[in-house]
Parts: sequence; C-alpha cells; structure tokens
Amino acid sequence: MQVCEPSTAEDFRRYYDLRWKILRAPWDQPRGSERDALDDSSTHLMLVGPGGRLHGVGRLHFNSIREAQIRYMAIDIPDQRKGLGSRLLEALEHRARALGAATIVLDARESALGFYRKHGYIASGTGHVLFNRIAHLHMSKPLCRTGQDK
Ligand SMILES: CC(C)(COP(=O)(O)OP(=O)(O)OC[C@H]1O[C@@H](n2cnc3c(N)ncnc32)[C@H](O)[C@@H]1OP(=O)(O)O)[C@@H](O)C(=O)NCCC(=O)NCCS
Repeated sequence: MQVCEPSTAEDFRRYYDLRWKILRAPWDQPRGSERDALDDSSTHLMLVGPGGRLHGVGRLHFNSIREAQIRYMAIDIPDQRKGLGSRLLEALEHRARALGAATIVLDARESALGFYRKHGYIASGTGHVLFNRIAHLHMSKPLCRTGQDK
C-alpha cells in the first residue's frame, strides 16, 4: 500500500470516481458534484494497494499561508476501519506541515467525528448541513513542528 499523488488523467478519473462514490452517490448527487473550484490548486493524495487498486482519497488546500484545510476524505467501503483513513490523514498532515501550515481545519461529518477526534482534532462549532441531511462540525488541530506528529 502506498500513498501517492494522482498524476495521469486515469489517476484523476479514478480519484474523483471514488470521491463521488463515497461522498456523493449515497445521497443521489450527480457526477461532477464531487468537485469544486479549489481542486485545480489543491494537493491530492490517494492510497493505492497491490495491483493498483484505489483504496482511499483525500485533499489538502490552504486557506491562508499558515492554515491548511482537509476535505473529501473517502475510504472505499470494504476498506473502512482498517487503519487506511488514519494513514491517509497522517500523510495529508505531513504534507501540510512540509508546506508551512501551523494549523489544519476541517468540517467533519457527524459520522466521522470519532475518527478525527482520535487524531487530535477538536470541535470548535457547528458547520454547514450538506444536502439538508448531513450535519458537519468545524474541527481544528495545531500542527506540532518539532516531530511530535507521526
Ligand atoms: C471517516 C473515514 C475517512 C475513516 O477512515 P477509516 O479507514 O475507516 O478509519 P480508521 O480505520 O483509520 O480509523 C481509526 C480510528 O478512528 C476511529 N473511527 C474511524 N471511523 C469512525 C467512525 N465512523 N466513528 C467513530 N470512530 C471512528 C476509530 O477509533 C478507529 O479505530 P478502531 O477502528 O480501532 O476503533 C472513512 O471511514 C470514510 O471514508 N467514511 C465515509 C466517508 C466520510 O465520512 N468521510 C469523512 C468526511 S468528513
């Protein structure tokens, strides 16, 4: 299993397909709804297993020079709760730190709160409600710059 950046058109096709399948299709959202205007200027990471199978995707962008934001974390259904989301999140945090971030923020679905809490994120308020159904909470985590993070 390796963490890498999508680079070819086929990589990106599979990357957005998994994002759509996990984060949009269950709510009957059309293809295309999984993308936004920041995708072109963001860092994308994906988890690829033996045989090239795609297990997970996640995105990092910057809101300011010191504040990074993680969005669109998605692990394929049969691969959830096997530590892969943790591995991807840690890789995104590592990249954020390398690019100069002091803090990471994100909007967590209520169903994923336990995952982010386990990784040291603290809820700071209520966020948006997606598709009138999926409540989010703002969360943040200061990034240690002295090697505390894995
Ligand atoms: C949320 C998600 C990214 C987590 O990735 P994952 O690979 O399933 O999580 P991990 O196996 O790395 O979890 C590590 C720990 O986080 C916690 N955790 C993970 N998912 C959790 C959940 N849904 N609820 C509560 N705690 C959770 C657990 O403590 C878990 O350890 P354990 O399995 O030993 O108890 C993944 O399940 C997913 O893609 N879910 C659907 C899409 C989604 O909700 N994305 C986030 C949008 S904000």
